[in-house]
Amino acid sequence: MQTMWAGRFQKQLDADVNDFNSAISFDARMFRQDIAGSLAHVAMLAHAGILTDAERDVIAAGLGSILDDIASGALPIDPVAEDIHMFVEAELTKRVGDVGKKLHTARSRNDQVAIDLRLYLMDAIGKIESGAKELLKTLLDQAEAYAATIMPGYTHLQRAQPITLGHHLMAYANMIERDLCRLAACKKSAAVSPLGCCALAGTTYPTDRAMTAKALGCAFPCENSMDGVSDRDFVIELASCIAMMMMHLSRFSEEIILWCSWEFHFIELDDAYSTGSSIMPQKKNPDIPELVRGKAGRSYGNLMTLLTVMKGLPLAYNKDMQEDKEAIFDSVDTVLQCLHVFTPMLATMRVLPDNMRKAAANGFINATDCADYLVGKGLPFREAYKITGALVARCIRDGATLETLPLAVYREYSGAFDADVYEAIDLDACVMKRTSFGGTSPASVRAQIASMRERTGL
Ligand code: ARG
Repeated sequence: MQTMWAGRFQKQLDADVNDFNSAISFDARMFRQDIAGSLAHVAMLAHAGILTDAERDVIAAGLGSILDDIASGALPIDPVAEDIHMFVEAELTKRVGDVGKKLHTARSRNDQVAIDLRLYLMDAIGKIESGAKELLKTLLDQAEAYAATIMPGYTHLQRAQPITLGHHLMAYANMIERDLCRLAACKKSAAVSPLGCCALAGTTYPTDRAMTAKALGCAFPCENSMDGVSDRDFVIELASCIAMMMMHLSRFSEEIILWCSWEFHFIELDDAYSTGSSIMPQKKNPDIPELVRGKAGRSYGNLMTLLTVMKGLPLAYNKDMQEDKEAIFDSVDTVLQCLHVFTPMLATMRVLPDNMRKAAANGFINATDCADYLVGKGLPFREAYKITGALVARCIRDGATLETLPLAVYREYSGAFDADVYEAIDLDACVMKRTSFGGTSPASVRAQIASMRERTGL
């Protein structure tokens, strides 16, 4: 194995060490970004008079042909190459001759890999944003369809107060909207160019780093060349953003899994988004949400990998940083894969409003409203709370509900009760009355949907 640095060494690189050292199996996916970076660099070198225009044109044409050939499959990636940077450069020299060796003037692989990864992740963030927007749009549409569908709301997984499914779905819409905000911030962090930082100290050539930054869609060149080649904050930010997003999808998945159990039976997933059992013929399993919930774990692991890889690194570049790619690529792939199946699963699920309503009619879910009724009659809330608690205990003893308990029994507990208590604790009324800003009434839910649609344009 003849390496680029063979002149300095007496022996050839051990084949196993070459395998160990190589990043090509995972960094080849950055070939477009690597070539885009080189094209911007070579244009700048000619602009600065470091290369002639003729040299630039030959190199650019060579790079263009390599890009086309990798993309079409005509040029297979050499698995023995050390990384994508060396592969492209070696291929360029093969194609255009010695002039290809001039490309690597005033740059190093340290700034090259940093710009490649930034460009790759900028593009990946765009894809995650589109996926998240599709999910958000589906959530808004479903929330609108079920803005008045009553279901039990839970705390401690105990029936707490009646809510609407639309309200519940909009809670997730808010999480995804925050995820989108964080993704936009990540994109900004990534869009800073380290190209031209060279190995660590900058260069003696009259380069124009602002020119390459602009050509590559970055807002500006980073201000410190040592920071430029050692900064992986943007990778960690994205991994953290994805981990948080996966946490949201995982919580939602957990609820979907519960909702499709026979115990809840609030929804049914479409056949196309469910799986069967190899032995139990009756089974319809929610594998998609289970896998999404499981995959949240690996996204947390990737974040921890990245933080740990970086924690002890002295400035500037260290080969440890090559370990950043598999972790962040896995997080990107995972979240994209999850969004891809989660959104249509949600769009096609069948909601069972009758079952939701039946569940909401049990469990004394209107007890707070009963207490609020007494407050309306002038009792302090703590007193009203105590009386209602005693009434619930009585119902449990008698096998009754607050709706079926006779007025005479109500009045044993407080003279403030009148026949209008039954209207006050009616399930629909309980929901309709919660018109506070951000509350669960269909009117409040529709207001939430409208304002989010306006903010997001979805
Ligand atoms: N494959 C390397 C990485 O992913 C590229 C940079 C190599 N730089 C070096 N000085 N060996 O980090």
